[in-house]
Amino acid sequence: MIFDKIFKSTKTDGVLSVIKTDIHSHLIPNVDDGAKNYNVSLECIKSMAQLGYSKICLTPHFQTHRFQNDEDDILKHAESLRNTIAENNIQMDLIVGGEYLVDSGFRKRMETNRFLKINGQYLLIEFSFNQAILGVSELVFELQKLGHEIILAHPERYIYFQEHPEIPKMLKDQGVFFQSNINSFGGFYGRNTLQESFKYVKNGWTEFLGTDIHNHIYLEALVKTCQSKKFRKMLETNEFLNNTI
Ligand SMILES: [Fe+2]
Repeated sequence: MIFDKIFKSTKTDGVLSVIKTDIHSHLIPNVDDGAKNYNVSLECIKSMAQLGYSKICLTPHFQTHRFQNDEDDILKHAESLRNTIAENNIQMDLIVGGEYLVDSGFRKRMETNRFLKINGQYLLIEFSFNQAILGVSELVFELQKLGHEIILAHPERYIYFQEHPEIPKMLKDQGVFFQSNINSFGGFYGRNTLQESFKYVKNGWTEFLGTDIHNHIYLEALVKTCQSKKFRKMLETNEFLNNTI
């Protein structure tokens, strides 16, 4: 099986146990661009247990034009996945959140104020990858007024953040939590993103790590990153809030 091959001759067992909880994943089958079927989900979850995770937050995409997910449906899907992993004797605590793209329909969501939040506490949002959002500071302020603690997904990946570091600085000043993708530290998204990911940690800007795992390609990269000395040193010398969830 491909997943056995990924782990062969690696020494990555338990590397991620220090952070305990993954707060960003796409492992509910067929609700977004993540896992295509239960087999993929199960193999990823099994491998993540081997890497040291004991809890995973399922965070499917909520995007107005691509993935029109409904919160109640997602909760039902998550329950089915829980049952399936139990039937397969896989030990993993699954909780549910969402990854909400700040797009044209996001303000409508704010009107109903209905979101699936990580641990019922943190709202995971993402921005467009190549276009800055106008009025982002005001939007953050409004979300906070609605009672949300905000986690911004993978800030190291936004190209305009790299060109305009004053934007992430402003968000940090507003109390936005940052979640970096573990695979960014391994170069999965390219050199610039790798450099940014370490820079954010050095700045003290990264409170959370996430896998953002979709399938075995991400899993393979995750195992490779866990083999990287630089990543392991970063993990040993910094504290993250994942294990508070
Ligand atoms: Fe994601």
